[in-house]
Amino acid sequence: MFNNLLVTGGCGFIGANFIRHMLYDSDFKGRIINVDKLTYAGNPENLTGVAEEFDKRYLFFRADICDAQAMAKIFDDCRIDSVCHFAAESHVDRSIAAPDAFIQTNIFGTWQLLEQARLRMDQMVLFHHVSTDEVYGSLGETGLFTEHTRYDPSSPYSASKASADHLVSAYFRTYGLPVTISNCSNNYGPYQFPEKLIPLMILNAITGDPLPVYGRGTNVRDWLHVTDHCRAIREIMLGGRRGQTYNVGGNSEKTNMEVVTRICKIMDDSLPALEDRKPRTDLITYVADRPGHDLRYAMDFSRLREEMGWEPVETFETGLEKTIQWYMDNHKWVDRVKSGQYRQWIKSHYGSLTGRA
Ligand code: NAD
Ligand code: TYD
Repeated sequence: MFNNLLVTGGCGFIGANFIRHMLYDSDFKGRIINVDKLTYAGNPENLTGVAEEFDKRYLFFRADICDAQAMAKIFDDCRIDSVCHFAAESHVDRSIAAPDAFIQTNIFGTWQLLEQARLRMDQMVLFHHVSTDEVYGSLGETGLFTEHTRYDPSSPYSASKASADHLVSAYFRTYGLPVTISNCSNNYGPYQFPEKLIPLMILNAITGDPLPVYGRGTNVRDWLHVTDHCRAIREIMLGGRRGQTYNVGGNSEKTNMEVVTRICKIMDDSLPALEDRKPRTDLITYVADRPGHDLRYAMDFSRLREEMGWEPVETFETGLEKTIQWYMDNHKWVDRVKSGQYRQWIKSHYGSLTGRA
């Protein structure tokens, strides 16, 4: 069992949900040490209240996972015995515009953490690496990705994650580092930075701004509520076979148009009408397609179901309604993210900012 769990990227969307899940909703009794560089996607306000409530069991360090000295000190000072590695540059469109940071953090940074763990092999119980279904490339109209699907990434983001996955597996085979890997489909839920499809559409639909749909909106993603992903990661960390990969999915394939029109319908039913009483679907604007845009993702997660009995709890319908409600209820978080005020707070507490917001 692990006691001193290093969570990297814990101020991002999934990392923050995972820290909350472990501290509030699980029987984990150890300490969480959150290391985050606080790029544009890292928002300490995703963890408001956590440090106060868990002052002995939660520690935060602003640091870059690529910084060997800083990582070595944290591993030693905090007697790290396990890692759950989320930290990454995570947005495909940004990776197309500027791949540099993706190569640096996702590949070099992952290698740096693996080295720190390898140098302390005798104290390491587990290194869990959080990855994506995008490493498998694109499906056609039918079929599912399994853990045996050949890697075939399309974007600099997915290629950098694929590279990191290979390094993690190599450290298991070569050095016997105890690792597990999860490859998950698209997440949605609270605290997601509004550059990704679902939060962007929700926030624009609230204010009546255009809803930009790439191409014809026919690309398909498999959606999973973030709390289901966090439960899956915990199960894999506790019961997963070392050296093994586990697919995590939502059984919830939707075209992008289905997602956007569903958001519009829920919001038309619960918010005041737009000007001229027009439906929010009128805000949909078709824009240029993403280069190398993967057509379809869908996951076979039978390994995780059979070995650990994991299933998603939220359906897309229940999860989406809760998510929309969360963004409507959390005005302060939304306003501070949209206005960039969370970045000013980081600057006043931690000094210089990193990355373009
Ligand atoms: P995110 O962009 O919301 O958060 C990433 C976090 O990592 C931020 O807090 C950022 O500050 C931090 N970070 C970035 N570079 C760093 C560095 N060099 N050192 C330390 N911290 C750094 O991402 P997310 O959506 O929460 O994704 C988390 C992980 O899950 C990623 O590894 C991603 O590839 C994977 N994943 C995401 C999804 C999804 O749908 N969002 C699906 C499957 C897998
Ligand atoms: P995104 O949330 O960026 O996740 P990913 O690219 O990792 O799957 O995009 C999800 C889908 O939505 C993808 O097919 C691209 C599309 N999309 C739009 O149509 N408009 C947008 O503004 C965004 C951000 C994404």
